[in-house]
Amino acid sequence: MSAAGAAGGNWGDGTRSVHAGLPEAVPGQPFLPGPVFAAPYHLDPERGPSAAADGYGRPDNPTRRLLETAIGELEGADCRVFASGQAAITGLLLTVLRPGDTVLLPADGYFSVRSFASDTLEQLGVRVVLVPTAGPYPSFDGVRLVLLETPANPGLDVADVRAVAAAAHAAGALVAVDNTTATPLGQRPLDLGADVVVASGTKALTGHSDLLLGYLATRDAGLRDAATTWRNATGGVPGAFDCWLAHRSLATLDLRLARQTANARALADLLAARPDVTGVRWPGRPEDPAYPVASAQMRRVPGVLSFDLGDERRVARFLGASRLVAAATSFGGLHTTADRRAQWGDDTAPGFVRFSCGIEDTADLLADVAAALDAAG
Ligand SMILES: Cc1ncc(COP(=O)(O)O)c(C=O)c1O
Repeated sequence: MSAAGAAGGNWGDGTRSVHAGLPEAVPGQPFLPGPVFAAPYHLDPERGPSAAADGYGRPDNPTRRLLETAIGELEGADCRVFASGQAAITGLLLTVLRPGDTVLLPADGYFSVRSFASDTLEQLGVRVVLVPTAGPYPSFDGVRLVLLETPANPGLDVADVRAVAAAAHAAGALVAVDNTTATPLGQRPLDLGADVVVASGTKALTGHSDLLLGYLATRDAGLRDAATTWRNATGGVPGAFDCWLAHRSLATLDLRLARQTANARALADLLAARPDVTGVRWPGRPEDPAYPVASAQMRRVPGVLSFDLGDERRVARFLGASRLVAAATSFGGLHTTADRRAQWGDDTAPGFVRFSCGIEDTADLLADVAAALDAAG
């Protein structure tokens, strides 16, 4: 834990974001030390690697450790960062699961995890059961690991982490939560009873659409050590410059999320009032089916929403007419983006759009979206 982490138990989200993982103030030194670029480090000729924290870049990098301290403070756990969210999630799955085990995965979550399960886990003899995020959940008897993704991408259903964790633990299963969409300021899965958090830091956590990152956070020392061993053996580490950029970006997490959420709230109301838009989902709207659980377990609802524009051509006309909404996959960034998920093979309707609010002014974004919808016909 950093000096700020040790001191700041009661601090608000803005203060925690700005100070997360920063080292003690040292006169003449920067607030956030610059990236340390190294493959090998000098070794002590007599004592070898035991003489210093850093010996070789795959297991050891001080820039990466500072980022892990920062994310760990926000999640309330030990953290290990990976080269991408997918590296963190597959690392967890392969660390925990063995042939003959059963894993429960979200039926409506990030599609690459399901592809990995059918391409790799099932080949290894792991039984994969897909469960809708909103439930109902089957019996957890005989289950080794439950992975929740809440809110789920792209449908934005929400799982009751407390209820699932209690039932899964009673049956002896481990519970992991993909915290990508919510971020650690949006929800604290470990406080809700989960054993481990995995996430993509590529999205809102770092939010500038300029790097890939993943992480795993846990209070279970055995899991942490197994994940560390896995990462050292398979080598999926992020580089020093990406770690530094990510840490720099974390400082504005609270501000970015606040604007994204305000934009999503206003936009969800605008869209829901339009007869030419259907299926508006945003877990922060009282009318949303996910609202009761989301409002009970989340600290804030992120800036991602979804809706249906009817067909592929209308989505294209909408995106072509908008000046502020970029057609792009991914979400959680500074710039507002929209993605027609069926084009990536998601099991969604042809006109289904995942929409990620950026930090533009709310009035500008609303005016632009309304005009683009009008123009799309
Ligand atoms: C919920 C969720 N988890 C994990 C990932 C994978 O993250 P990455 O692209 O950083 O590998 C994504 C990517 O979109 C995601 O949306």
